[in-house]
Amino acid sequence: MDLQAFFKMSYGLYVVSSSDGENRSGCVVNTLTQITAEPPKLMVAVNKDNFTTDIIRKAGYFTGTAFGVGTDMLQIGHFGFKSGRDFDKFGDISFAVDENGMPYPTEHMVARFSCKVEQELDVGTHILFVGEVTGAEKMVDEEPMTYAYYHQVKKGKTPKNASSYQPEAPKAKGWRCTVCGYEYQGEELPADFVCPICGVGADMFEKIK
Ligand SMILES: Cc1cc2nc3c(=O)[nH]c(=O)nc-3n(C[C@H](O)[C@H](O)[C@H](O)COP(=O)(O)O)c2cc1C
Repeated sequence: MDLQAFFKMSYGLYVVSSSDGENRSGCVVNTLTQITAEPPKLMVAVNKDNFTTDIIRKAGYFTGTAFGVGTDMLQIGHFGFKSGRDFDKFGDISFAVDENGMPYPTEHMVARFSCKVEQELDVGTHILFVGEVTGAEKMVDEEPMTYAYYHQVKKGKTPKNASSYQPEAPKAKGWRCTVCGYEYQGEELPADFVCPICGVGADMFEKIK
């Protein structure tokens, strides 16, 4: 199988978030897609290990919010490389709550789609949620970020839990972030270095052997 073929697939980049009244979280996904127009329905594949999956299952609702091209990489890292099991992802960011009581991030987000879960399908590593759109809103007037833009312009990485994950060949020299996989090229890593993708410090980097 030619794994390079999968890089020719096009996607957008979103946060899918939910709250069950007790817990709230959200994760980055590239798998949110509109599947019907009348009535409007979306589907999204969320890894069984993601905290967001547990919450969506309990709540029966999720909200998909599209990143704009101006989104800071740390915001993507916040939702895409950390788990809501460890901290409240909505604790220190700007967010709003939709008509279903679901929280969604607002900074640099261009549109949101609030959904009621209609069906879920176990597809192995992921759960495929089908949701009917109960509300949609255009937010900031900015271009949406595509998955290709995230990789090519923002130099973003994709973690193991993503549907589209592919392991990368390690580079010859440098340091690798153990949280998000970002690679720093250089013999010595400055002690005050902060990962430009997920925001952790130099102590979370390992030398590439
Ligand atoms: C670019 C990118 C795309 C991703 N796409 C998906 C996806 O489609 N499905 C998924 O389950 N996880 C995806 N992830 C991984 C989750 O966002 C990540 O595992 C997150 O930390 C889970 O957080 P949670 O445990 O709070 O739910 C993606 C991450 C990134 C950075």
